[in-house]
Amino acid sequence: MEGAGAGWPEPVVRVQSLSESGAATIPDRYVKPESERPKAALEPAAATTTEEGGIPVVDLSSPSDPATARAVSEACRNWGFFQAVNHGVPAELLRRARGVWRGFFRQPMEVKQRYANSPATYEGYGSRLGVEKGAVLDWGDYYFLHVRPPHLFDPHKWPHLPPDLRETTEEYSREVAALCGRLMTAMSVGLGVGETRLQEAFGGADGAGVCVRVNYYPRCPQPELTLGLSSHSDPGGMTVLLADDRVRGLQVRRRGAWVTVHPVPDAFIVNVGDQIQVLTNATYRSVEHRVMVNAADERLSVALFYNPKSDIPLAPMPELVSPDRPALYEPMTFDEYRMYIRRKGPRGKSQVDSLKADSATTAAVDVNVAPVGRKCY
Ligand code: OGA
Ligand code: NI
Repeated sequence: MEGAGAGWPEPVVRVQSLSESGAATIPDRYVKPESERPKAALEPAAATTTEEGGIPVVDLSSPSDPATARAVSEACRNWGFFQAVNHGVPAELLRRARGVWRGFFRQPMEVKQRYANSPATYEGYGSRLGVEKGAVLDWGDYYFLHVRPPHLFDPHKWPHLPPDLRETTEEYSREVAALCGRLMTAMSVGLGVGETRLQEAFGGADGAGVCVRVNYYPRCPQPELTLGLSSHSDPGGMTVLLADDRVRGLQVRRRGAWVTVHPVPDAFIVNVGDQIQVLTNATYRSVEHRVMVNAADERLSVALFYNPKSDIPLAPMPELVSPDRPALYEPMTFDEYRMYIRRKGPRGKSQVDSLKADSATTAAVDVNVAPVGRKCY
């Protein structure tokens, strides 16, 4: 075990090492308060019998068809989450991306430790989000890296092993970022503000940020006491998740209950992040989600975050603000915004809620954007 060093408040413990130690119990640091444990949240019987797997499934085979924009828009308004099928990224590339990252997490610990991250940028091999001493931790390790903009792309921070990891991850990121561009268009059309408007509000396609977080959730001897990733909404623009092809775990908050996602093979799970909620004045919603772990199987997921240019103030688009629906959020840059999750760790939707404009002006519409998870924390 290495020292606290590198900006972390405590020595970093790899969840994979805890898991592989064969201990029958998990350390107290990982035990969640009762109200947050997976079993505490009952799944309504209806949740998985509506659309397939609970969240909507959207076919992207005709991306510029108005019906596609309508389906994307509907899902972003009502759920904040959907599964994208026929998305145009080859299934063979999805398999390779999963393969290289499984290969990385199977490297000996001393190889992985060379890439140990720090809270300054979070790039590299990590085991916690947030720097609060004594925080209850999540049962997961991860690898975080920046792909774009070019000045943040640093190949030295990418694993050298397995040998085809870099090339595969670059190809994967390129393809998925292109998909995000198509989704941005559909989302924008679905808002009625014109094809390129949302991308412009992001600071243009060239300014957009692309980061990848590969999540590795080792087997857990007491999965009922902990979570692989605590409830959070994604701070950025949108997220495209390649879920594990064998093991379920992702849950989405829906009307106070947790809906387990049943991934369609080779689909992506797309969700709205806080910045799109802000830009759209909460027309599209970022929704809380969390990850359960289990005793029988490890789980791997690859999340690609598509973010606005990080140094421009983001506020609701004027077209989506009216006397009936005043601007709900104060402007803030994404650089400033993401410091919160980086310091405090995943905390439901408390951050986007904290951006709310003066409550007197928003009282009329507040009820529509009542935070789904504020009382969690
Ligand atoms: C994330 C995330 C879900 C998963 O990385 O932000 O929500 O299934 N991941 O790993
Ligand atoms: Ni997330």
